[in-house]
Amino acid sequence: MNRYESDLLLIPGPTPMPPAVMRALSEPAHGHRTPQFSKNLESVTGRLKEVFRTESDVIVLASSGTGGMEAAIANAHSPGDKILVVEIGAFGRRWAEIAEGYGLEVARLEVEWGKAADPAAVDEALASSGAGSIAFTHNETSTGVTNPTQAILEVANKHGALSIIDAISGLMASELPMDEWGADIVVGGSQKAFAIPPGLAFVALSDRAWKAVESATSPTYYFDLMAMRKSLEKWTTAYTGATTLVRALDVALELLLADGLEGSIETHRRRGEAVRAGIDAMGLKLFSDPAHASDSVTAVLPPDGVDPDAMRKDLAQRFSIHMAGGQKDLKGKIFRIAHLGVIEPYQLLGGLACLEIVLRAQGHTAFEPGAGVAAASQILGG
Ligand SMILES: Cc1ncc(COP(=O)(O)O)c(C=O)c1O
Repeated sequence: MNRYESDLLLIPGPTPMPPAVMRALSEPAHGHRTPQFSKNLESVTGRLKEVFRTESDVIVLASSGTGGMEAAIANAHSPGDKILVVEIGAFGRRWAEIAEGYGLEVARLEVEWGKAADPAAVDEALASSGAGSIAFTHNETSTGVTNPTQAILEVANKHGALSIIDAISGLMASELPMDEWGADIVVGGSQKAFAIPPGLAFVALSDRAWKAVESATSPTYYFDLMAMRKSLEKWTTAYTGATTLVRALDVALELLLADGLEGSIETHRRRGEAVRAGIDAMGLKLFSDPAHASDSVTAVLPPDGVDPDAMRKDLAQRFSIHMAGGQKDLKGKIFRIAHLGVIEPYQLLGGLACLEIVLRAQGHTAFEPGAGVAAASQILGG
């Protein structure tokens, strides 16, 4: 953090917070059994239904996104249940780890990182595994890839498999109309496109998923979604609700949905396109399959001879701009530029301009200075 506290976060969460959100976070706290909290929770639930495109209630949990993932697995399964996990990156792998932790029998469909899942391969894996449920990542943050979620859901529904989707970094940035596409459980997280701090997870369940929850026997206590649903009927939470975060979320969603969900998705689409054009003009290569490149985060291969982590350190120290590195198997092999949440064109262009400077300083000079910014600005300005 620089001394002016004005660092730019181009990481896939936490993302920058608009001043109205910061003001909401500094409002005096109120109790979680008060009419104010109920009002905020009711308002937030309505707005989240718009984001998830669902008629079902969206449960708001005081936890990070992984808590929402764990709640989804635990509530909808019994030990020994078979689940197919589609693993296209580090967060897909997390589904398998959680499911194993709950004693599920896990079949894995492992896809080369950087590529999206092939719905035909999912079809085969569901048939051969006999799994009753399938968990996958909508937008795989670790590789910058968006899965063909609609097509995977078609396959899952053909097999009658309960679908569980990590949409933590994809919601509001790319399409996932839950009811229309027939998804059963969708999980989101607050520190991504929602532009508020970490600390809330969102879980929406279809009627079919609630039926599965009613008959599941895996142990839950804090993450008991039925208890949470019951509390929600009275616009309250089973345990102490995250009052301040819920208030901030209400403010954030009012801002973010001002142009409708489509407006938010279109903004992300354009930013993704601009960053990809900028990267290309700097002579860099995408890590991800371009056909499935994410509009939330762009994963980039460093040029020959450039250490991506040293470059990112330089960027942070000299310009107070933060980009993400590779995770797990990709540590030290890629860097990632997030364009998720409230990021304005001037910030993105500034980020790319400073990236050009540090790339050149690290020895990558095979591009005209300003080329990346020019390519991105054509798209952002168009
Ligand atoms: C796709 C995806 N899934 C899961 C998570 C985990 O969320 P959290 O770190 O909030 O637990 C993240 C966070 O980066 C993510 O991007």
